[in-house]
Amino acid sequence: MNERIAVLPGDGIGHEVVPATLRVLDAVVDFEYDHVEAGDAVAERTGAPLPEETLEAVSTADATLFGATGETSADVILPLREAVDSFVNIRPARTHPGVDAVQPDTDIVILRENTEGVYAGIEDRLSEDVSTLTRLVTQSASRRLGEFACEYVEANDHDGFTIAHKNNVMRVTDGLFVDTIEEVATEHGVDVDDAYMDAMATHLAMDPSQYDVIVCPNLAGDVLSDLAAGLVGGLGLLPSANVGSDRGIFEPVHGCAPDIAGEGVANPAATMFSAAMLLEFLDYDSEADAVRSAVESTLEDGPRTPDLGGSATTDDVADAVIDRLP
Ligand code: NAI
Ligand code: MG
Repeated sequence: MNERIAVLPGDGIGHEVVPATLRVLDAVVDFEYDHVEAGDAVAERTGAPLPEETLEAVSTADATLFGATGETSADVILPLREAVDSFVNIRPARTHPGVDAVQPDTDIVILRENTEGVYAGIEDRLSEDVSTLTRLVTQSASRRLGEFACEYVEANDHDGFTIAHKNNVMRVTDGLFVDTIEEVATEHGVDVDDAYMDAMATHLAMDPSQYDVIVCPNLAGDVLSDLAAGLVGGLGLLPSANVGSDRGIFEPVHGCAPDIAGEGVANPAATMFSAAMLLEFLDYDSEADAVRSAVESTLEDGPRTPDLGGSATTDDVADAVIDRLP
């Protein structure tokens, strides 16, 4: 039985980078695709950004390949993450030979809590003057993230991880987050240290080589991973995986890039690296390695898209990647 993959391009350059990536996947595996839609264009047409069929397809597929949506992205991705019970977002950021990077020694993985923190959606407008937001941190979600981090570190031969937080200010919520994850690390015998997330931003900008795996709350992970994208050469390179217990949604970190959408020049590397993470998640390890090496060698030798200083199209890059597959 073939794996069934929900394919959701979304809006804008999602319609360029996702088809280019499917061509690469088709060259290494024989998956069955369920093509579905969501996002701004769907909302304009039907009044709602996330059709029931899409939610159903993503909830039941073995994995989902997602492009990006536009202004409706919170209304699309948050329910989808919930549908697959995705409690962690894995965001690796590493430099690649041939790509100009602000910090050539970057090789980090951010494990971002994916369900709570300030993105739990508990906001209120109390009066004309006053608005509030509740920051939700539970011991159970922190423990689950800690368990995942320990298993990730053990499976991928990392020395340990660093918790990013701000427990000097958010004493109760980040206090619980840090204490719980440290406790889990101790149970697993995994090395753990911690850093204030603001200081970490400075250290990442100046010397990212001091970090390896970073475990952090939702908002911190969002911001630090975009910072990491800047260090390694831009948003067009960073993949991500929203992982649940037995399903996952794999998507580039970038958005739908309305400024270049329709020109056919979006960099497909982030989505192709996301597809490699999808392959790995489904235990297609050699295919994942093949895709990753082919994309890396294309980044090194070209052709490259304009965001990396080249003049190639998305399809030129896909052709070059497919040529390099074994
Ligand atoms: P963005 O990531 O779409 O674009 C930021 C800049 O990076 C733009 O100059 C864009 O051209 C460039 N860029 C991004 N991906 C690229 C690629 N693959 N190749 C070449 N250049 C690339 O972020 P922005 O502009 O802040 O947001 C645009 C829209 O996307 C907004 O409506 C936003 O809400 C949405 N968005 C959706 C996300 C998602 O679906 N997960 C994530 C981030 C933003
Ligand atoms: Mg973001």
